[in-house]
Amino acid sequence: MLQGKKIILGITGSIAAYKSALIVRGLIKKGAEVQVVITPAGKEFITPITLSALTSKPVISDFFSNRDGTWNSHVDLGLWADAVLIAPATASTIGKMANGIADNMLITTYLSAKAPVFVAPAMDLDMFAHPSTQRNIEILRSYGNHIIEPGEGELASHLIGKGRMEEPEAIIAVLEDFFTTSALLQKKKIVITAGPTYEKLDPVRFIGNYSSGKMGFALAKVCAAHGADVTLIAGPVSLPTPAGSIRRIDVESADQMYDATMECFRQADVAILCAAVADYRPATQQTTKIKREQQGAMQLDLVPNKDIAAALGALKTADQLLVGFALETADGLQHAQGKMERKNLDLIVLNSLEDAGAGFQCDTNKITILSRQGEQTVYPLKSKEQVAVDIIEKIESILC
Ligand code: PMT
Repeated sequence: MLQGKKIILGITGSIAAYKSALIVRGLIKKGAEVQVVITPAGKEFITPITLSALTSKPVISDFFSNRDGTWNSHVDLGLWADAVLIAPATASTIGKMANGIADNMLITTYLSAKAPVFVAPAMDLDMFAHPSTQRNIEILRSYGNHIIEPGEGELASHLIGKGRMEEPEAIIAVLEDFFTTSALLQKKKIVITAGPTYEKLDPVRFIGNYSSGKMGFALAKVCAAHGADVTLIAGPVSLPTPAGSIRRIDVESADQMYDATMECFRQADVAILCAAVADYRPATQQTTKIKREQQGAMQLDLVPNKDIAAALGALKTADQLLVGFALETADGLQHAQGKMERKNLDLIVLNSLEDAGAGFQCDTNKITILSRQGEQTVYPLKSKEQVAVDIIEKIESILC
């Protein structure tokens, strides 16, 4: 899976830098093309000559060459890579990555990279356990970076504990696994619905809900990062379209979302229905503003909207995968299970407003994924992007 993959190997100032030579050799043996970007401190631990001899490329460390003024473009480098691996990653580099402190070539390259990023921390046990390091690692996770946990054992300080960079073969295996599973989504056509729907009452009012679109947009971003061709059908939200191969179709009402989704589903391999679709709409839409001419209560006649998930469930072929969401406020598991069966979904993602930090608008979510085979996977509270990664990994486990 590494054949032809372009990998940036970032090396920082840790004694574990000597193992980077083995990482380079292992990646190249598997057919990858490696470009080393090393920090000034990294050069104290391993010489650029060793690394350029192994990669057959000049090692990049500075923004420009002192010899002839050649400019090293971190933007071009970031776009060139299929993956960025930072091994070893010191506490200092992890802190800079988490906080966008772009004071060396490696951090500017990291900030410009569109490719998946893997980080293999290496440091003394107390530095690794320190709350600031742990917080920075969590921030990197929330950005969707993959952390390759360090191992336990004797450290350079001769203390024993967690902080030793993972062994080169294991690091290479993580990259191989990533490219193997992400290949499952390469060029797959994925339709995602996101956001709320607005059901018009008159030219100035509508019936809507609190969905911000964040969960659906995070799914679109992660699917595109895994190489899928994404069609994102978005209700009225104020989010920019994430980068990557994403075609966005903006709709307003449940009816419009139904038409767009039905149209795209025929060619799709997977559909993920994350939108909070209104179940009802006003029976009539006034063409002019409804006036408050009467005293007391007002009656609204509502008619049911079409159920997009159920319609797709009825159309679904054996080659298509249908994933729904269930937003619940009580008895979540029971309701989610019922929806999965009634709508003929393969998976349903339950999120409940009973859990703090879950559901509408926030940047986090807490989910349980139920499968048609009776499997139930409970996840802790995570960023919506990380939740999207969990959902995509579950989809990939079914596709493989
Ligand atoms: O957008 P955010 O602010 O990030 O919030 C994310 C979210 C809470 C909206 C999202 O995580 C979520 O739970 N989306 C589904 C919300 C919902 O409408 O759930 P439901 O239980 O009412 O619907 C069940 C499933 O049927 C959903 O997949 C829904 O998209 C689908 N449905 C519902 C009604 C309808 N007419 N057509 C549908 O396709």
